[in-house]
Order: sequence, then C-alpha cells, then structure tokens
Amino acid sequence: MDRQHYSSSLTNSSADPTPRVNAAFVILLQNKDLHDMRKTMRMLESTFNRHYGYPYVFLNNVPFTDHFMTHIRAMTAAPVHFGLIPKEHWSYPAHINQTQAALNRIAMEARNVPYGESESYRHMCRYESGFIFQHELVLPYDYYWRVEPDVSFSCDLDFDPFMVMKTRKIKYGFTIALPEYVDTIPTLWENVRRFMALYPEHIAKRNSLEWISYDMGETYNNCHFWSNFEIVDLSFFRSKAYMDFFNLLDQAGGFFYERWGDAPVHSIAAALMLERREIRFFNEIGYRHGMYEHCPESPALQLKCACDPKDNVDWAQFSCLRRFLET
Ligand SMILES: *[C@@H]1O[C@H](CO)[C@@H](O)[C@H](O)[C@H]1NC(C)=O
Ligand SMILES: *[C@@H]1O[C@H](CO)[C@@H](O)[C@H](O)[C@H]1NC(C)=O
Repeated sequence: MDRQHYSSSLTNSSADPTPRVNAAFVILLQNKDLHDMRKTMRMLESTFNRHYGYPYVFLNNVPFTDHFMTHIRAMTAAPVHFGLIPKEHWSYPAHINQTQAALNRIAMEARNVPYGESESYRHMCRYESGFIFQHELVLPYDYYWRVEPDVSFSCDLDFDPFMVMKTRKIKYGFTIALPEYVDTIPTLWENVRRFMALYPEHIAKRNSLEWISYDMGETYNNCHFWSNFEIVDLSFFRSKAYMDFFNLLDQAGGFFYERWGDAPVHSIAAALMLERREIRFFNEIGYRHGMYEHCPESPALQLKCACDPKDNVDWAQFSCLRRFLET
C-alpha cells in the first residue's frame, strides 16, 4: 500500500473538494485489543475512510502504551487522538451500595448471565450510555461512528454515511437489531415507564414505541439496536431529554445492580425520543461482530461486498429488523 501517496492527498484539503461532516470514529478499548483493532481499521480504511480521512478517537480507562499508539497511527493517514477516561466517569456513584452490587454479580454469574460477573463490563456500559459523548476529545464533534476492535466491514462504500446523516437529518443509524438478554435488564422497563410518566414532553410524536413493545408500552419486547455499531448525531445524546433519561436510569442503579447495556439504553431512548424518520437502517454497510453479521443481499450491493448473504442475520427468526422496517 502506498501510504505516503494517499496520505498527502488526504491531508491537502485545499486540493480536495469532498465535503466532510464534523465527525469522528470513536472507539473504547484496551491495550490488549491492539491487533484486533488494527484488523478492523484496515477494513474501515480500505472500504471507506481512505477517501475521507475522518479522525479516530481512542479512549481507555488506563493510559495507552507507546507501542499501542505507534501501531494504531500506522494504520491510517487520518488524525488519531488518544484519551484517558476521567476517573469520575468510570467509578461508582455515591448512591450505589457496592456490597449489594457485588452480591448481585455473584448471583448473575451463577445464572450464567453473559458478563454477569464482570465489574469492568458494567463500568463500560454505563460509560457508553452516559459519558462517552462528553469526553473532551469527543466534544468537538457533531457526529460519531462507534467502532469496536475485531468487527468487520465488508462493503465498499461509495457514499459518506456521516453526510447521509447530516443531509437527511438522521440522528441514529444502525445495521443490526436483536433482542437483549432479559436477565440483564429485569427492572429496566419499569424505569422506562417511570421516565415516560415523569417526562411526557420528551417523548416524540411519531416515535417507535411499537417497535420495542407489543402492547403499547406495557412491556418491553427486548428489541434493541446492536450499539457496537452506531452512527449518531451527538446532539441527541447531549440533549436534555436524553440526559434526563440517563440520569433517571443511573439513579435507579441498574447499571450495577443488574447489568444494563448501553445497547438497550441507547435504543429505547432513540425509539421514544426520536421521530421514526430520524432513525436509519444502514443496509449498505456490511458489518460483522462476533457471531452476527449484516450482509446486504441486493445484487447491486453484493457486487460491492465481500460477505456471504447466507450469513445475513437480517431475516433470522429472532432478528428485530423486520419489525423495525414494518412499524
Ligand atoms: C495542496 O493543493 C493545492 C492546490 O492543488 C496546491 O497548490 C498546494 O501546493 C498543495 N499543498 C500541499 C502541501 O501539497
Ligand atoms: C448494602 O448492602 C448490604 C447487602 O445487602 C447490606 O447488608 C447493607 O446493609 C447495605 N448497606 C447500606 C448502607 O444500605
């Protein structure tokens, strides 16, 4: 790869008329994720970002090593920023009874709840839910595309997803929608109902409640966007409406006493507080994380994608995509 060459063409913005959005990739990860992240960046660069040079922001709750930073910088010609998460965003709020939280983790481990035993996973979910968009390195941006180490991007993009978000006034973009593990969120929905009753002014008129509830809000059907991929207009997360939602949930304690994920938190917020037209399924972006993959099936998109449509999770029995598209 002739990195030098595309480096100069990307950094010379006066010679490049491609309009860009004030946006960045934001990645929360650990030093041990270096090689998985490099593989992901190789795909992100070759399918999309080599044409655009959007910056990357990497965040960690401990400092990145020089080795990590050198090897990440070598993967892109775009600007790269490394940040430390402030302690107060990665610790217990005063109202949490940590003895009780520890007992609950042991009980959840015994029930084989995924990450049921993990304290750091809980801090991560809370951080992604309420703080990441306020990090000083993320604050300058209007949009983020969340990326994780070891995810795959399989389709060449001949458009800029950030620009689609901006020109069509989309606030939340996703590729995969699945049900959450119920054991991680026993009391989440009762708190959501409390929020809806307390803050009717935050609920959008043409919302997507029907997508996440079969009974007009009585119960949750556990559908959520898989937030390990999400492209978001950050003014949504930074809004009073979203922050009132996060603060109510944080006070309720379920990030620690249960194991509320940022995926249901972001998704329920988007479903209730955004207009339906402000949420977009990015069908064009082939994406895999772990065992689930979105592989576009249309013949035109297949020509641009290196994925097997047989692996596509979109129409699986448990997928929540069909319901989203039909409601
Ligand atoms: C950037 O592009 C402009 C216009 O083509 C050119 O005049 C200038 O020398 C270039 N600058 C660099 C640093 O390559
Ligand atoms: C915290 O939880 C433990 C375990 O349930 C309980 O014994 C203790 O009284 C609680 N502490 C406070 C201050 O409520």
